[in-house]
Amino acid sequence: MSKKESRVGKLDSRPKKKEAGKVPIFIMGKRYDVPESLTIQKALEYAGYQLVRGCGCRGGICGACGTVYRFPDSYRIEVGLACQTVVQPDMYIAQIPFFPGNKAVYDIETLQPTGATIGALYPEIFKCVGCGTCTRSCPMDIDVLGYISKALQGNVAALAENSFDCVMCGLCASRCPAEEVQYNVAILGRRLYARHIVPRAKHLAKAVENIENKKFDKTLMELKRLSVDDLKKIYKALEVEPDMADESWVPKNKAHVVED
Ligand code: SF4
Ligand code: SF4
Ligand code: FES
Repeated sequence: MSKKESRVGKLDSRPKKKEAGKVPIFIMGKRYDVPESLTIQKALEYAGYQLVRGCGCRGGICGACGTVYRFPDSYRIEVGLACQTVVQPDMYIAQIPFFPGNKAVYDIETLQPTGATIGALYPEIFKCVGCGTCTRSCPMDIDVLGYISKALQGNVAALAENSFDCVMCGLCASRCPAEEVQYNVAILGRRLYARHIVPRAKHLAKAVENIENKKFDKTLMELKRLSVDDLKKIYKALEVEPDMADESWVPKNKAHVVED
């Protein structure tokens, strides 16, 4: 008996006959034969599990479905998002719906956008040994070690920009030998950048000013008097802003446009 068979046999004694179009996977040690095209998330449901934790958007955005798995012949722990990773034969699967990472509490208004601020709130970043496990663990292909390096250098803008695609799945932190919580360092960086470094958006300030000066009130009152059917007609007839419109775009019908 091979090493692989002996490990599988210990966990499940059912015959290992493979059904056409299906692959055997092991969910917390129990064997299930599932369609080979399913993601791990769909395979869990196919196997009869009801997902009440560790599942959110189902589209690779929310980061709720961090999953660890490995194969019988390999020592390597693999990681992925359950909603994005397709099952493979003999996967041993377990989900990590929550990882208890360090989370600093702060008032962003009072902080300086510097490396000293990040180091004071997350001193564990200085323990980084540069192993790169975080980067290899990231299902979003983010250079996690790279953005932690930017945090250590005090480059808040680069930390914010390089971590922008983080979905906060927690997989990097779950593997880090220095017990860092990279995604919380990253979100601190993005908050510091957004609050203290990036220039204020002038058009947004102008829009808020217009609201406060009640420039939209007359139009809103007219809309409130309409029936639902009339509102639907207006909505369907709306000229939609093209996806790639530049800053100067305005609708052809300017009846409801409030000029600056
Ligand atoms: S896994 Fe941890 S110690 Fe390793 S490079 Fe990433 S942050 Fe540093
Ligand atoms: S940086 Fe960490 S928390 Fe963010 S997506 Fe990558 S592995 Fe997940
Ligand atoms: S369920 Fe949201 S990323 Fe997988």
